[in-house]
Amino acid sequence: MTRDLILAPSILSADFTRLGEQIAECEAAGADWIHVDVMDGHFVPNLTMGPFVVEACRRATSLPLDVHLMIERPENLLEAFAQAGASHLTVHVETCPDIVGTLKTIRSLGCQAGVTLNPATPAEALREAIPFVDLVLVMTVHPGYSGQAFMPGMLPKVAQVRRMLDEAGCAAWLEVDGGISAATLSPVRAAGADAFVAANAVFKHPDGIAAGIRALRSAD
Ligand code: DX5
Ligand code: ZN
Repeated sequence: MTRDLILAPSILSADFTRLGEQIAECEAAGADWIHVDVMDGHFVPNLTMGPFVVEACRRATSLPLDVHLMIERPENLLEAFAQAGASHLTVHVETCPDIVGTLKTIRSLGCQAGVTLNPATPAEALREAIPFVDLVLVMTVHPGYSGQAFMPGMLPKVAQVRRMLDEAGCAAWLEVDGGISAATLSPVRAAGADAFVAANAVFKHPDGIAAGIRALRSAD
């Protein structure tokens, strides 16, 4: 069964002087979710945004806010992000000694619970989390910056995660993040992903945000 294609523009490449307008442009152009990349300068080298920006995004759109936490000790901030209006909270398995407990906390806060894997982390690291997830995110770049090249070596991992979810009868979204463009979307879709994060392909498209979203949609 082919599942609907979900597009989640990442505001990491947005023009922050016009963040509200740019999010509204994404929504008008048919984006499904808005992806928010939270980085702490420890787990990843870059430092970005926190609950305050999520709260501003919440006021700019009614789309689900897909919040990707690239931070150590995410459990300390889950409640703040949920209160700020996050719809999905995705944590890195590498940062969570008790991944099942963390996912349960996310659900108890009324959010969809996501787990993600760095490129070097094997799909097997997910296994105990599967009964507790609404979303699995496979990183297709080393997290930290937008505009990096897609890692084709991650395609077998996407396919493996697809099999693990199907075998478990788990309806979670399988999302990918990093280097997604009109050229890379289709092989990842064929490997079994159904949700696609894109920063540069949307916000840096030479013909604008709507053209970027159209190009990704028509690559399906
Ligand atoms: C990478 C972030 C991504 C990033 C994607 O660390 O998690 O969400 O913004 O950027 P692009 O789509 O430009 O590779
Ligand atoms: Zn991300």
